[in-house]
Amino acid sequence: MRVLVTGGAGYIGSHTCVALIEAGYTPLVLDNLCNSSPVSLDRVAQISGTRPQFIEGDVRDAALLTGLFESHDIAAVIHFAGLKAVGESVEQPLAYYDNNVSGTVTLLQAMQNAGVNRIIFSSSATVYGDPASVPIREDFPLSATNPYGRSKLMIEEMLGDLHLAHPDWRIARLRYFNPVGAHASGLIGEDPQGIPNNLMPYITQVAIGRRDKLRVFGGDWPTPDGTGVRDYIHVMDLAEGHVAALDYLLKNEGLFTVNLGSGQGYSVLQMLHALGRASHQTLAHEIVARRAGDIAECWADPAAALALLGWQTRRSLDDICADAWRWQQANPMGYAE
Ligand code: NAD
Ligand code: UD1
Repeated sequence: MRVLVTGGAGYIGSHTCVALIEAGYTPLVLDNLCNSSPVSLDRVAQISGTRPQFIEGDVRDAALLTGLFESHDIAAVIHFAGLKAVGESVEQPLAYYDNNVSGTVTLLQAMQNAGVNRIIFSSSATVYGDPASVPIREDFPLSATNPYGRSKLMIEEMLGDLHLAHPDWRIARLRYFNPVGAHASGLIGEDPQGIPNNLMPYITQVAIGRRDKLRVFGGDWPTPDGTGVRDYIHVMDLAEGHVAALDYLLKNEGLFTVNLGSGQGYSVLQMLHALGRASHQTLAHEIVARRAGDIAECWADPAAALALLGWQTRRSLDDICADAWRWQQANPMGYAE
């Protein structure tokens, strides 16, 4: 069964292609490569024995999408394509609304015209803003503090409206917590351009010697060790969550929204020490000022995903660090080598 995977050459998309192939699905990747390398798909082929079909193109290209749906029998769409850097979204809001919101409108219109009505959307825990308590349930209040988060909220609402008007649509809104780690082969992983914004790729670059030390954003948060706490989810657990959502949508009607997280929070220092253990080093750090827009703690109540999809995370913090380190060691400069 063929599944269109927009953004399938990217970090989560490439891992999801592996999980889809392993589950017997046929991914068809559409990606404009604005934040990824086609080498990731060579590596997917190496891991899975199957090369995903790849179309280089943009989700905002209506004519391309029309042709694509006409010429391929597509059962469902997993929609990863979009921009994801919070700071950049503050500086370039229109690029974010264009790529993320307009891109999704164009995709949904093409799906509707083609009679394809099953979609899985990449939302984010960022839609909970600064939550009043943890763990976070799906019925918590939603808010956005930056254009990236607002684009995710807008798309979630758009999908809700679409389902109200057309109840035959089958829609999954998946709210990811913090995706980290890499495939256990070390062949695919996260390959950020420039200085990483996110914690784990920064730490692995310290471990490999590309950065001198981790700057810890705040040591005075109201958390056990004073550093920020997050729900880090192994990217292969996340990928398998998409397969579970797809299996569900093929069998059941409706729209559903679930957290994809582990239900467990770890602090910045716990993550640094765990990667230090995996790489057999003591990793240097310095406590600096808090980063604007950060929150103290954020982790999921993952019960809904278990109840609805039968899915929960299987991989531990040590698995995350071992796999992230294997990827970083084998690919010190990412896919560029
Ligand atoms: P990524 O940048 O690695 O992957 C996104 C892919 O989409 C890239 O390959 C990029 O080239 C492609 N793309 C972007 N705009 C496109 C367009 N207009 N047309 C076609 N392709 C386009 O990011 P990721 O970490 O794999 O994230 C995937 C999705 O999950 C994104 O929507 C992101 O917002 C969401 N998400 C990510 C995280 C995270 O921490 N990684 C957390 C929550 C949600
Ligand atoms: C970031 C995004 C959020 C997105 C989420 C999931 C921001 C402000 N928010 O959140 O929208 O949904 O990723 O991927 O970018 N940290 C350091 N030093 C660093 C980097 C991070 O101390 O160099 C700390 C942060 O303060 C935080 C934790 O590490 O406490 C995790 O940071 P990060 O990986 O950027 O993720 P989030 O802040 O959760």
